[in-house]
Amino acid sequence: MILLLLGMGPSTENLSIFDPVSPPAESIRNLSVLVLAITGFIFIAVEGILIYSIVRFRRPAATGVTPGADAEPPQVYGSKPIEIAWTAAPALVVFVLVLVSARTLWEVNVPPPEPRAGDNTLFVTVVGRQWWWEYQYDHYNGRPIRAVGPDGKETELPVITANELHVPTSAGGVSRRVFLTLKSADVCHSFGVPRLAGKTDLIPGRTNSMWFQTDQPGLYVGQCYEYCGTQHANMLIRVYVDSPSDFQNWLDLQQQDRWPKQDDPRLRDERVREGEKAFLAQSCVSCHAVRGTPAKGKYAPDLTHLMSRRTLASGMIANDPDDYPLDNLKKSKLLAWVADPQKIKPGCLMPAFGLSDRDRDNIVRYLLTLR
Ligand code: CUA
Repeated sequence: MILLLLGMGPSTENLSIFDPVSPPAESIRNLSVLVLAITGFIFIAVEGILIYSIVRFRRPAATGVTPGADAEPPQVYGSKPIEIAWTAAPALVVFVLVLVSARTLWEVNVPPPEPRAGDNTLFVTVVGRQWWWEYQYDHYNGRPIRAVGPDGKETELPVITANELHVPTSAGGVSRRVFLTLKSADVCHSFGVPRLAGKTDLIPGRTNSMWFQTDQPGLYVGQCYEYCGTQHANMLIRVYVDSPSDFQNWLDLQQQDRWPKQDDPRLRDERVREGEKAFLAQSCVSCHAVRGTPAKGKYAPDLTHLMSRRTLASGMIANDPDDYPLDNLKKSKLLAWVADPQKIKPGCLMPAFGLSDRDRDNIVRYLLTLR
């Protein structure tokens, strides 16, 4: 009960199902409250009668032998009204719970519609991976979401990001629904953000889906809910519900290649250029992608806009590019991560590459420019 109450606080780490902000989560909360009320009532009634009986019909201890204490109380057999009552009452309770559960399933489990123009709906494909989340932005408001090349024209490339999901809020009477298509690249995972919707499994070889929609902007946290290996506990989810215009700005940025313009001042920094060269020469590129460069790996998070994310390593460590002391990179978590990810997230699929100090520093300087 204490844990439950703690979970209801207003903190951003709120994982309580009793504080929903989206219709599927509300349906689940309503069902949970009803089930808790019914089972709670039964629990209290049964335990109450039990305790009453124990206390009321105790054998008196002081007198030792009480005449007639060993005699059995009158036994009741074959009372039709009682038999009918205690068969019908539980059956009725179960029947009610079945009906309400079925209605909740109906409300929660909405198959994704076809995207169409003006539907204000966001479609994202979520791929569960050991041990992070990949988000591919598919459609918004009926339009396919595509990466934009250096010439400002849309390409065929998808927009992919990791771990932090940005979605628009329903504002001004317009409902903006979010449909997630859930897949797995390796083992079973489960995507769950309790205040937005229930958990849904990501199963290899199978496609599941879930939906939510909220008019309350903010950060909603969740995690993987299916044991999936060593770092299951560190497969954290952050859902940022932005105002529609903030979301559009975020999406515009994500669609851009690494550096939108060739005259970007960052390109003039010698050490950043060296860092890019080192990055592209290392095996980083066989797993990571940076759009607009030869790095096209697909097994690890897309780094094109790494610095637009507030956390690294699937929500494990904070990431704020403005906090990095360039004169003392040793303090930066990003450097520690690049130097040896196994120290921060043991078992994760990124090895330590044994980079020279200079290469490592330069690569971090380069990564810092991927905003
Ligand atoms: Cu993924 Cu647990």
